[in-house]
Amino acid sequence: MVDAGERTGGPAVGGAGASPAEVLMGMVWGCTVSAAVTAAATLGIADCLAAGALDSTDVAEQAGTHPDATRRLLRALGALGLVAEESADRFALTEVGELLRSDVPGSFRSAAKVFGDETLWQGARGMVHSVRTGQTAFGHFMGADLFDHLRGDGAAHAEFNDAMGQASRTVVPALVGHVDFAPYRTVVDIGGGDGTLLAGVLRAYPGLRGVVFDTADGVAAAGATLRAAGVADRATVRTGDFFAGVPEGGDLYVLKNILHDWDAPRCVRILARCREAIAARGRLLIVAQVLPDTAAPGQGVPSHLNDLTMLVNLGGRERTGAEYRALLAEGGFEVIAVDAIPGSGGFSAVYAVPH
Ligand SMILES: C[S@@+](CC[C@H](N)C(=O)[O-])C[C@H]1O[C@@H](n2cnc3c(N)ncnc32)[C@H](O)[C@@H]1O
Repeated sequence: MVDAGERTGGPAVGGAGASPAEVLMGMVWGCTVSAAVTAAATLGIADCLAAGALDSTDVAEQAGTHPDATRRLLRALGALGLVAEESADRFALTEVGELLRSDVPGSFRSAAKVFGDETLWQGARGMVHSVRTGQTAFGHFMGADLFDHLRGDGAAHAEFNDAMGQASRTVVPALVGHVDFAPYRTVVDIGGGDGTLLAGVLRAYPGLRGVVFDTADGVAAAGATLRAAGVADRATVRTGDFFAGVPEGGDLYVLKNILHDWDAPRCVRILARCREAIAARGRLLIVAQVLPDTAAPGQGVPSHLNDLTMLVNLGGRERTGAEYRALLAEGGFEVIAVDAIPGSGGFSAVYAVPH
């Protein structure tokens, strides 16, 4: 790995001082940036460089890739700041590039593979279709919704769960630092996937018990996550369909990145199931990228881009605070507060009580 002075790199395309045309074209070429990073993750390029700098031919040999094409990818990754070309045709990982290794704590390799791969690209390539029709491009091209598609492919679902867990890892420390879980006895994480959130919360609050609830494919890795975190004795893994019912007995129900997957009628069904299960004095905690009330340059960019990702892939949406209030009211809850979670990359906590 190269030292800190060489790592910075700056913005990928159209950096500070760029002309309007450069800014625009930098956005247009964003798809190629995503494709290059996803290719590097998929091909295991960072793992090849884990032990130190290599020539591109050695990387190609280890990765089983075409030598000249590999050199061109490495040089593009060099321009993007993921590797540094230390001397002619010799490449080392930067601090950012290290995150693409599969064997480091805090790896984002699965996230980099999944969020730019051919499956999710089915939605992105159909943005025009979605904006014209309001329908999901993913369904248009694949004939199924994303979760139905994943259900048929255990390996793809496992990678998706891993990617979600990796994405959550940046949010969970900020969440447990911001939300006070001490007043609760049992937290139920609805659609909790690989258990990353529940593991983080239980580790931070030794008096708390928890349940992670998801489909059988969704929770496949949760037991291992909870055991690795040393909290399995206070946690239960439950499987089911949140449109049909959710586990009873919790006094805090958490929905992180769940309601944004679905349109309003389906969100209301999930909320109604939570309303049936929740204790009378229980609380709901929605962890979501709440949209700003109005769009402004540079503000809420992840929320707005996620909103489009939901449009093309799932028919869901990100929502403003007012939209959450209206949606939760329909599902039997009253929102009592919406506050930003500092250091979470744009997530907010929406607190609600049964009404
Ligand atoms: C966008 S992921 C969010 C995962 C996790 N909460 C997080 O933030 O990382 C949505 C989750 O909902 C789960 N899910 C989808 N449909 C479901 C259903 N009908 N019943 C229960 N869980 C479901 C998926 O398996 C997946 O784990």
